[in-house]
Amino acid sequence: MKRKVTKAVFPVAGLGTRFLPATKSVPKEIMTLVDKPLIQYAIDEAREAGITEFIFVTSRGKSALEDYFDHAPELEAELERKEKTELMDVLRTTYMDSGAIAYIRQHKPMGLGHAVWCARRLIGNEPFAVILPDDVIAGDKPCLAQMVEAYEETGGCMVAAMRVPEQMASSYGMLDVESDSIDRKISVKGMVEKPAPGKAPSDLAVIGRYILTPDVMNTLNAGRTGAGGEVQLTDAIAEEIVRGRPVHGYRFEGERFDCGSKAGFLQATVSFALDRPDLREEFSQYLADIVPLVRAAE
Ligand code: G1P
Repeated sequence: MKRKVTKAVFPVAGLGTRFLPATKSVPKEIMTLVDKPLIQYAIDEAREAGITEFIFVTSRGKSALEDYFDHAPELEAELERKEKTELMDVLRTTYMDSGAIAYIRQHKPMGLGHAVWCARRLIGNEPFAVILPDDVIAGDKPCLAQMVEAYEETGGCMVAAMRVPEQMASSYGMLDVESDSIDRKISVKGMVEKPAPGKAPSDLAVIGRYILTPDVMNTLNAGRTGAGGEVQLTDAIAEEIVRGRPVHGYRFEGERFDCGSKAGFLQATVSFALDRPDLREEFSQYLADIVPLVRAAE
């Protein structure tokens, strides 16, 4: 019998050097798209998929993340006094029930697989989700909720998948596809982390949403290193296929932004701002005004 997915791991130990100097004192995951931190998008998505236990794999210098999810009685009292009920509701989305959130430190940056493995004792013998907050996915139905629904049919492991241009393949885990059915589920027969140029088995890349079986933790126990000398999650999932257990890709519906890169982060900012009723008009007018000037200057 397939167990419900109620736990999610958020690997947030990275230094975020691509966003220095901001990330010198602010964890990358607290950087905001408009006014909401990346991590809040990830938490909201997890909640909508039925996740009730949140496990953060952090590192030194990330304590601002713990504060972010704490209750804020002074702020609350002030908002209540001023009858700012809408802001109170916003504030409450950052609250976590006591015991629903756990923080574990990854002491050395040894790769995504190692970060996930750090959560093994809290995961125990249950399926679990992994969300990489750098990958922000906008859509009517959140990506993880789409995957949980598909997983109820398939069981096994499932990774979010998206087509990428050939020259981008070496930045991703890439899928070797058994059959690409007309619905969104793809049966996977192999996976390669960051293949050399021209060596990708397909154009389907793994995006940062996973549903994994506890067997993956057992494989990660071995601590085998792969691409870049790191313990790769992709390799541990690929091992499931070798052992004859099902792995599926899920071609999610929605637009993915790579918020681990500056360009992706800016694109997400523009897109989310244009989606906001309180900003759309003023902001789209601004864009309409400057775009011709940018073009003319080219
Ligand atoms: C990680 C994974 C990779 C995946 C990517 C998605 O890579 O290792 O398989 O395709 O996330 O964003 P990273 O971007 O951390 O190098």
